Amino acid sequence: MKVLVTGGLGFIGSHTVVELQNKGFEVVIIDNLSNSSIKVLDGIVSITGKAPQFENLDLKEKSKVQEFFLNHQDIVGVIHFAASKAVGESVEQPLMYYENNINTLVYVLQELTKLKQSNFIFSSSCTVYGQADELPISENAPIKPAESPYGNTKQIGEEIIKDTCKVTPKLNAIALRYFNPIGAHPTAKIGELPIGVPQNLVPFITQTGVGIREQLSVFGDDYPTPDGTCIRDYIHVVDVAKAHVVALQRLLESNNTSNYEYFNLGTGTGSSVLEVINSFERVSGEKLNYKIANRREGDVISAYADTTKANQVLGWKAESSLDEAMTSAWKWQKRLNSN
Ligand code: WQD
Repeated sequence: MKVLVTGGLGFIGSHTVVELQNKGFEVVIIDNLSNSSIKVLDGIVSITGKAPQFENLDLKEKSKVQEFFLNHQDIVGVIHFAASKAVGESVEQPLMYYENNINTLVYVLQELTKLKQSNFIFSSSCTVYGQADELPISENAPIKPAESPYGNTKQIGEEIIKDTCKVTPKLNAIALRYFNPIGAHPTAKIGELPIGVPQNLVPFITQTGVGIREQLSVFGDDYPTPDGTCIRDYIHVVDVAKAHVVALQRLLESNNTSNYEYFNLGTGTGSSVLEVINSFERVSGEKLNYKIANRREGDVISAYADTTKANQVLGWKAESSLDEAMTSAWKWQKRLNSN
């Protein structure tokens, strides 16, 4: 069975390609290499022993998208990762974000609605909840006004899919709301490749650990949390990848009662910034150079998932601990540094 993975050379995309191939799916990747490297393909092949098909294609080119689907009528499902994801950049260049994240989604869905039957998985984000009123955050929590154009593209993206499913019964879709994916494949053959200075905590920590960055700034220690630093639900990227395979299988088996569903992907456990630093120090044996700095604008205080729906309905549960995820992130960083 052939599956299209857009953005399949990116961080979560590449790990998902590996898990799909491990389960016997045939994978076609579309990626425009705007935020990824062609070398990721070698990593995938080296882990799975199988080469996915690869198309260097920009989904913003509507005619190319149409042509692709005309030539690939045998695709049974699409997992759509391709999108821009830097919150700060999205504030500076909102139209680029709406074009990259919304236009491309519309073009792909337009092709899917032409098919007799289609299955679609969308990368959404816990950012849709903003600072939730209740923790852990269940899927019933209200959607809060987006803090950034990036966050807005995830909310609008979900709405677009929901509206399309309503009038297209043969389109079957699932949105997966990721909490904080971290780590790398345990083989350290694929992982996260941040461009420039990492904005996210874990790559900043591991780059500081190997000396690329001098010091980590902990953004605020005066939050109303047990140690004063913000709390997030850090989930191993391989667990996130496996959830996509399970979601795809659900769509293919048409076990779902509604043709549009959404699930949280988290561990259910919140960790503070200082706990993540402690985990890093524990698994790496390194002392991390960090200082307490001012709060970062726009940060929510605390966010972690209620995973009951994914556990019960998808039959999926995150398996890795924070220490395991940090171990894999560290192994990957050391591998990158030695190249
Ligand atoms: C985690 C914690 C920071 C860097 C990201 C995405 C967002 C969403 C979820 C995407 C926070 C602190 C960080 C640093 C620090 N998903 N921190 N020093 O903020 O939860 O958001 O994941 O689809 O869009 O941006 O993750 O890794 O940036 O930060 O102290 O140098 O680490 O303040 O508390 P965040 P993050």
